[in-house]
Amino acid sequence: MAIIQFPRDMKWGTATASYQIEGAYKEGGRGASIWDTFSKTPGKVVNGDNGDVACDSYHRYKEDIQIMKDLGISMYRFSIAWPRIFPNGTGEVNQEGLDFYHRFVDELLANGIEPLCTLYHWDLPQALQDQGGWNERATIDAFEVYAKTMFNEFKGKIKHWITFNEPWCVSFLSNYIGAHAPGNQDLQLAVNVAHHLHVAHGVAVKCFRTLGIEGQIGYAPNVEWNEPFSQRQADIEACTRANAWFIEWFFDPVFKGSYPEFMLSWFEKKGISIPIEEGDLETIHQPIDFLGINYYTGSVSRYKENEGLFDHERVDQGYQKTDIGWNVYPEGFYKVLTYITENYGQIPIYITENGSCYNDEPVNGRVSDHGRLEYLKQHLVALNRSMENGVNIKGYLTWSLLDNFEWAEGYSMRFGIVHVNYRTLERTKKDSFYWYKQTIENNWFEV
Ligand code: BGC
Repeated sequence: MAIIQFPRDMKWGTATASYQIEGAYKEGGRGASIWDTFSKTPGKVVNGDNGDVACDSYHRYKEDIQIMKDLGISMYRFSIAWPRIFPNGTGEVNQEGLDFYHRFVDELLANGIEPLCTLYHWDLPQALQDQGGWNERATIDAFEVYAKTMFNEFKGKIKHWITFNEPWCVSFLSNYIGAHAPGNQDLQLAVNVAHHLHVAHGVAVKCFRTLGIEGQIGYAPNVEWNEPFSQRQADIEACTRANAWFIEWFFDPVFKGSYPEFMLSWFEKKGISIPIEEGDLETIHQPIDFLGINYYTGSVSRYKENEGLFDHERVDQGYQKTDIGWNVYPEGFYKVLTYITENYGQIPIYITENGSCYNDEPVNGRVSDHGRLEYLKQHLVALNRSMENGVNIKGYLTWSLLDNFEWAEGYSMRFGIVHVNYRTLERTKKDSFYWYKQTIENNWFEV
């Protein structure tokens, strides 16, 4: 038996995102987002699901906040739906949208829960996509206006801001692999989008500083960990590239003001260039206050000629898999956090997402999600170990509070510590909820 103890000032929380939980897609003056369009395009989302209703949190937020209160969290990460604030992406601000988030944030604060707000968790206004979306610099300007509006409106209430959630997904997954909205399959386009997201991030951070907003700002890239299958140089290099696609590509511009050379030349060989304009790298290279890290999985990987973008393939080592098919790989969590700290310094880190998909259903009112509970435990052990090794962790927010609209998987994949019945919208706390509640209360657990 060992006690896994966390520091007294550790923040515990949960995370969600607007399109995945809110529903009310036509209410309160909300405009359409790219996810409305994508989810209604046949064949894009499992079972043709969409976020029209989702968890109906737009109406049930008070109930959800009571669930959070019962859980005992001190921080809640949510995202603002840009099309609720600017239904057309730019132009006139929609007061009803602002009012909704004021009611919501006030309710959080009244219940002693700190809001951690993500400005962009993927629901780009469709009107902006119609003009080219993140491929166009005009979208950076629109984002600046949106960010500024939110900073001014919520200053004093929201003290933790995240510009972008998972820029890798917004760029490569959505515009090269094509699995997410807007569903393009064009590598040059994806690289353009990634660069424009970087610039938009920098512009928003600059704006936050210029306005002198009280609080902290960061961003939340998603990372994976690829461990070399052997000590062969080719395997090591393949893993270095695979990791850098998530880490260096999205960290170096922000922390170092440059793109990693070895990745630039790899892309160059494929005829890809980065649309860098004068001043971009200085704009991107703004000091941030904290880093949000989203980690789910990793794997053992090796070199394979012409496999994927980076001559790299995963090797199945027989690790347990969650119901969405991802390896349970807590060692990767420890390694990636240690790697980030070694390469970018001891920046304060919030784990802004970590969680697992298990599709357990209620039986006599109880959801025995043993798999999720074990995943949580193992990842918190790894996190704790990383902290002992100098990783500057400030908080841990599990994904997700509720089962919700899991993007291209629709409602078929459940990540919540609270079960949602999508017919009745009833919420049922799972076993993992009760374990997490106890851990938060104690600030330690036993293994
Ligand atoms: C995203 C979440 C998503 C989760 C599980 C992350 O990629 O930020 O919105 O639900 O992982 O796939």
